Amino acid sequence: MDSIRSIAPLLEEVFSAKGIDLKKRDKEFSIRFIEGYESLFYLFEEIYGGHHDFEVFFKKLIESIVDAYLERENSLRKRDSEKLGKGNWFLSNELAGMSLYVDRFCGNLKTLKTKLSYFEELGVNFLHLMPIFESPEGESDGGYAVSDFRKVDKRFGTLAELKQVRKKMHKQGMYLMLDIVLNHTSHRHEWAEKAKAGDPFYQDFFYIYENRWIPNQFETEMPEIFPESAPGNFTWSPECNQWVMTVFHSYQWDLNYRNPWVLKEMLENIFFYANLGVDLLRIDAPAFIWKESGTSCQNLPKAHTLLRLIKQAVQIATPGMALLGEAIVAPKEIMKYFGTEQYTARECDFAYNATQMALQWDMLASGETKVMLAAQNDILQKPFGTSWITYTRCHDDIGLGYDDWMIKATGKDPYLHRSFLKDYYSGKFPHSPAKGALFSSNPKTGDARISGSMASLCGLEKALEEGNSFMISQSVQKILMMQAHAIFLGGLPMLFYGDELGLTNDYSYLHDPGKSYDNRWMHRPIINWEGVEKRKEPGTVENKVFEGTQRLLQIRKKLPAIGDYKNIVWMSPHNIHVAGYLRSLGEQRIYCVFNFGSETALLTWYAFKEQGVAPSVLYDHWTDSRQYVGLDNEYLVLEPYGFRILEVVY
Ligand code: GLC
Repeated sequence: MDSIRSIAPLLEEVFSAKGIDLKKRDKEFSIRFIEGYESLFYLFEEIYGGHHDFEVFFKKLIESIVDAYLERENSLRKRDSEKLGKGNWFLSNELAGMSLYVDRFCGNLKTLKTKLSYFEELGVNFLHLMPIFESPEGESDGGYAVSDFRKVDKRFGTLAELKQVRKKMHKQGMYLMLDIVLNHTSHRHEWAEKAKAGDPFYQDFFYIYENRWIPNQFETEMPEIFPESAPGNFTWSPECNQWVMTVFHSYQWDLNYRNPWVLKEMLENIFFYANLGVDLLRIDAPAFIWKESGTSCQNLPKAHTLLRLIKQAVQIATPGMALLGEAIVAPKEIMKYFGTEQYTARECDFAYNATQMALQWDMLASGETKVMLAAQNDILQKPFGTSWITYTRCHDDIGLGYDDWMIKATGKDPYLHRSFLKDYYSGKFPHSPAKGALFSSNPKTGDARISGSMASLCGLEKALEEGNSFMISQSVQKILMMQAHAIFLGGLPMLFYGDELGLTNDYSYLHDPGKSYDNRWMHRPIINWEGVEKRKEPGTVENKVFEGTQRLLQIRKKLPAIGDYKNIVWMSPHNIHVAGYLRSLGEQRIYCVFNFGSETALLTWYAFKEQGVAPSVLYDHWTDSRQYVGLDNEYLVLEPYGFRILEVVY
């Protein structure tokens, strides 16, 4: 294919075959298509330029995009236009999310529909429903091993019920987030079953090899993701007598995006979710979608090209759906998922602020903010128009994947520092209040990640066991401080269900053979709705954590400067235990300060005079009181694990 000009007639051909009304009815869509066409072509060419059927597949791509648009309900098209009109609708301080497993939270989708008032009460208007599409019980990885991308698993209900929930949510001003598991399918997916039966067309959907020759070459550079429960990156399939690439669990077969059929099918699945009314699509494990022998098979340039192509296609057909790239990788690599060079802010709209999340836990254990501050050079590079998912816990483990230099910059030894953190959170460190566990320990590399619920990691489980009321209230304080830090940082705060009530680890997973090998289930609780009622009883832990979280969200919604407009400046570290940032928008300026130390901390008032005009009065939204800014040798006093949300009063 020489140039774009020789292919442009394809667009006309597809438009006229599909009855697209360029001038009137479909004008906005046609403009978007014409604007995005060139990028679409070049991105597609970058991946499949050498394919003998390049032109055929490019035409199929255009057709898929047009079909997705044609199948889109009018109400969703209207929502698209409204969102486009607002511009970057997802940066707003008015959004606050929660991630939950439908079955563990309330049983099924039908019941979820009746629980929407609970989210409203808390102040959550954005729901991430953990995977609900068909996935074999016992070999499901929490739904991330999908056997049918379009059928809701009967455990949760039906597609019709999902649509009803979504409609009700939209009506109530809520937003929906679902996953697309792009990197792999379950080995029970129809494509894998056909591959097992020997069909070469479907074998080409996966990375399948007759002997260990190529797998061995791959293995030399590929790290292991689940070294304890799923060592290695290939699995022997006795059904087809071949080795299959399985980077995650042995039952999750990696998809081969070198085959354009795979992209076509998966893009159509993406559009299927868009047309269900998804507002934010979480692209699971995007770092892994392109493989090349001799590399780590993570974060490769073509993985980014694929994501850019997907973004471009979505932007044309279903532009109201934003994309979140779940890249839990090194800080510098995470940034690239927002796009680079001419694709800056044109790849994923969101990424998880996994570096900051892990560093919050680093600060809580060490009581020091230095490593976190060293990391900011990287984190602050996020382009305008994109956003973070900010969080303290999610369904996964906490990985200490930030760079060694960030630790070294503070004079610490990275190995010893990480060992301390792992010991602290697994409860091995003497007098540690935390009750978590190590996840995926790799004896070959010494790596390990951390499992455990927010409350248990903050010491609540141990405090309750010991009946120690001082420790209980300190744990509650830690929970709220950790939440506040993430809620005001900038980005879409995503709470993890159960954390709003301070729920401790749930060990029931140990009795389920489909889960017992994976200790991440300890922090994926089954909700007892009688217990949830305790949020209304003053004095209970549930009440304190729920009302505290509710207040934090109410404050967030009042303050436009908390929206994510690349408007954060870190305060100088005048006190090693105190992290502080200034958020500003127009006239509004808000200093958020957090004491990660277990002792009372003093912060010089000078800290508030380094950015612009020095304020004289601050209003603290958290304690609902005024603070008069003192002299430089006077201090703001923060109680252990205390925090303030201080707005400059003019
Ligand atoms: C993502 C999910 C994780 C899952 C993995 C494989 O990282 O968050 O839970 O195990 O992908 O799909």
